[in-house]
Amino acid sequence: MAVKDGPARSHAERKCLGAWYTPEVLAARIVSRAASLVEGPIRNILDPSSGDGAFLIAARAIVPGARLCGVDADPMAWSACQERARGAHVVLGDSLLSEDEGGIAWTREFPEAEAAGGFDLVVGNPPWEVLEAAAHQGRQSRRAYADALRRSGAQVFATGAKINLYRVAIVRAFEHLRSGGVLAFVVPGGLLRDAGSEALRGFLLDAGEWSEVWEFETGATLFPTAHRDLSCCVVFVRKGRPTDQLSIHAAGSGTPVLLDRAVLDRLGAPDRTIPALASEAELDLMTRLWRLPKLADCVGGIRKGDVNLTTDRAMFCDHPTDLALRTGKEIGPYRVPDGPRRWVAPERFGKRAHTESVRVAWRDIADRTLRKRMCAALLPPRSVLADTLNFLVLSGDEAEAAYFVALLNSHVFEWAVRRRSAHNHLGKRIVGPCPVVPYRSRDTRCRQIADLAKRAEKSPEAAIQADAALAHQYGLSRADLALILEGFPKQPYALKEAILGAFDG
Ligand SMILES: C[S@@+](CC[C@H](N)C(=O)[O-])C[C@H]1O[C@@H](n2cnc3c(N)ncnc32)[C@H](O)[C@@H]1O
Repeated sequence: MAVKDGPARSHAERKCLGAWYTPEVLAARIVSRAASLVEGPIRNILDPSSGDGAFLIAARAIVPGARLCGVDADPMAWSACQERARGAHVVLGDSLLSEDEGGIAWTREFPEAEAAGGFDLVVGNPPWEVLEAAAHQGRQSRRAYADALRRSGAQVFATGAKINLYRVAIVRAFEHLRSGGVLAFVVPGGLLRDAGSEALRGFLLDAGEWSEVWEFETGATLFPTAHRDLSCCVVFVRKGRPTDQLSIHAAGSGTPVLLDRAVLDRLGAPDRTIPALASEAELDLMTRLWRLPKLADCVGGIRKGDVNLTTDRAMFCDHPTDLALRTGKEIGPYRVPDGPRRWVAPERFGKRAHTESVRVAWRDIADRTLRKRMCAALLPPRSVLADTLNFLVLSGDEAEAAYFVALLNSHVFEWAVRRRSAHNHLGKRIVGPCPVVPYRSRDTRCRQIADLAKRAEKSPEAAIQADAALAHQYGLSRADLALILEGFPKQPYALKEAILGAFDG
């Protein structure tokens, strides 16, 4: 795919403006799909952050005769757009602020679209910046700009002090769309699964027909200079009726997965997560797994560690005490190293109930691109957990704790987690709604799994046996387990074969 980066700029400047330009091939695919979803004629098309005009150029070819309108706040982008998207009416100005706050005068600039009740098509790739992180455009302080945005009456869907400009841009674009018109935007993948986007997901599902989403594994495949971790998606929403079906096009998968609204609501609960699904077979498996109880309902609680590594550092010491400090980095699957690197001064820590018993803990931060992300282990009593670990509150029965360590480390559980996860954290919000088979002390397989978990630190064979036994415990077929293992492309082939062999045995 040919990639182009727009007017030359430094990385810092581009970051500040959110200026990662869309490859023309992708812009053309998006405009073409969006145009096919519009109800009625297409006369007015808008890109409200038009950069150097990739979408307007595509629209000119795909919908000949339509009026092309663009806005950009950056003079360089604006002049490049005028030059390249000949015939388009491109305005230099701000498309997010209201007119009173310094935004463009919509009725004066685009009278035909305003008279028609709005644009038929709004396309583009809005700024992705988080206002907290960058002084917006260097002209106004970020604080002043955030205040102006709030006063502008846009629903900013902000969490705390942070304002993600792409969220504001989506809502603003929606305001300028006529009923039956379509919005198609390239936005961060966080829209699909981040906690902070929950309200916006609700808005898109209810204020319009969110008919389609295209997911890209990393934004770096589209924007080569962007960070490799940046996930990215394209959303298509028609203004009018609420959503009754969503079609998910996963990265690298030829066939989309169609989800009815009722299924989407059930699989996405409680936070309207749009699940990561690459095939109908995955949807079928997820639907069956999601009939099981949720982890959060089967334990006494899911908590983040006891101490904050930064703000509580006055409690830590380099000489041994009877309280070992344990951090996420140290923990491997079933594995805790013998000696801690640091300890906690008991007189500063005080007494905390949880440190008296064995705990099931797992790393909170695990890069999305790791071959295996869940790393759970049994932490002995007198371990103080850093906030880079999460732990379960359990009854105190050691067999139950061992069972849950095996369950959290299993490929089945992590496969479920991956349907919900958008970023590098694996806390309560992500894992809590994932399905589990609860521990029952009288169940032979539960006890067997707990025994295997206790041996798994020293015996890779026991870890494999536990993994396979959990697939049986979840009621899966061999084909289900094979499908799950396919979802871990970086795991060695021999390991996957060994797990399948143990499942058969
Ligand atoms: C991610 S780039 C995308 C450009 C173009 N739509 C494309 O896909 O190639 C975002 C653009 O938004 C512009 N921009 C940032 N804030 C803006 C605002 N408040 N109003 C209008 N444009 C803005 C930037 O100057 C930049 O050109």
